[in-house]
Formats: sequence, C-alpha cells, structure tokens
Amino acid sequence: MGTLTLHRRQIHNGPLVLVNARHPLQGPEPEGLVPADDRFPQILLERRTAGLLSACIQAVGGRGRIVPVSGWRSQREQQAIWDDTMEKEGPAFTRQYVALPGCSEHQTGLAIDLGKAAPVIDFIRPNFPSSGVCGEFRRCAARYGFLQRYRREKEALTGISEEPWHFRYVGAPHATLMEEHDLCLEEYRPFVQEQPRTLHLANGRSVTVSYLPCPGEAVELEIPKGCWQISGDNQNGFFLTVWGDPA
Ligand code: DAL
Ligand code: ZN
Repeated sequence: MGTLTLHRRQIHNGPLVLVNARHPLQGPEPEGLVPADDRFPQILLERRTAGLLSACIQAVGGRGRIVPVSGWRSQREQQAIWDDTMEKEGPAFTRQYVALPGCSEHQTGLAIDLGKAAPVIDFIRPNFPSSGVCGEFRRCAARYGFLQRYRREKEALTGISEEPWHFRYVGAPHATLMEEHDLCLEEYRPFVQEQPRTLHLANGRSVTVSYLPCPGEAVELEIPKGCWQISGDNQNGFFLTVWGDPA
C-alpha cells in the first residue's frame, strides 16, 4: 500500500467541483468533450457525463422525446448569453437564470439543460415537466449520477432560481446521497466533512465518501484498497470515494 500526493491545483478538477458566484471556475477549458447526442453534434459534454446521460435517456425510453438544449459553454459563449439576456430580459431575470461568466457550471462540461422535444424550445428556460418521460428521467437521474441542480427550496444557497431543466453530473453515489439527504451541492462538502458517509448499494456493496482538506500546497493520501475515486471540490480539498466489498 503506497501513498499519493494530491496538489492544491488539483482541487479544481473532478465531477464534484462546486461552481457558483462565490466559486468561479479555475484553470483551462475542459478537454476531451464529446457530443451529448449523435443528433446534436454541436452540444458537447465531458465524456463520462455524455455516456451516462445517453444511458439514462435510453433507460426511460426518452430517445427523441428528451432533447439536449445546452451543454458545455465556453467563457465567450456564457458571456454572450449573459449580454444577450441582459439586453432582452433585463438584470433581474438574467441574474435569476444565467450564471455570471466564469461562474457557470456549463463551463465544466458536467451540466446539461434538457427539454421535452417540441417544434420550438426556449433556450434559457426549456420546458422539462415533472410528468411523462421527463418525470421518469427525473426519477432515474440520481442512479446515473445526475441531480437537478437548482431547486426552489435551495435558491438562497445556490443563488439561482429554480431550473427544472438543468441537470448536473456528480456521480451516482453522490447524487443518491444528496437526494436521500435533501442536499444541494453547496451543502455536500460540509455534510461529508462532518463525518464520512456510507451508502449501501442494492448489490450488497457499499460506498464511503470522505473529505480530505488541503490547506497547504499538497496533502498525502494512503491509497485505499479496491476501487476508489478522487475529486476536487473547487473550494479547499478533495472528496475520496471508496467502493467496498460486502462484509
Ligand atoms: N442557467 C445556469 C445557472 C447557468 O447559466 O449556468
Ligand atoms: Zn443550465
């Protein structure tokens, strides 16, 4: 068993990064983006996010009925959306529904806006109802690692109004824990930092999530046995996720 050195610059990478007005995006634009859907080649996502989104849409019979509306955005595109919405809708609406350029999780490639297929789809606020196939997607989303990122009850924490169409990939154990404990991403780091959290899976395995602060330039980690994953939080450290065998 060895150790691993995690450097502070790495806190800005991984599926659990928190991106909001208080935690702007850091570092270069993401690499290895792929189309969210082969029928929408211009809408790009981080590779794993795209694969799991397709799998979830497929599982609920949503192919052709649920469409991607907006995926990865460059800084320039987020700025153009901000400027255009300011001009057309004014500052109050814009601040409600468009993140400040540099502070949008669309810029990570981990966020997707979805719409119910229709001849005309609103780009800023697509219709994604709670019923029918969209409701089915919503019920299955956490199992594929997605959560509705902006909910009415969490507006004071996220700073963004309710967006039933905006889903964020975080990974299945994390989306499930957040759903079970009614947390938004802003609340997840304190929740895990308080104590490691264990999720028992249907197949008898379990997943434990813990938090490793990185107050200095680097932090050492003893490499866990088995399957594990590290993600930065874009704040002050790392989430460690370890999959365990049945006891
Ligand atoms: N609509 C979300 C908040 C964004 O612009 O990133
Ligand atoms: Zn969005």
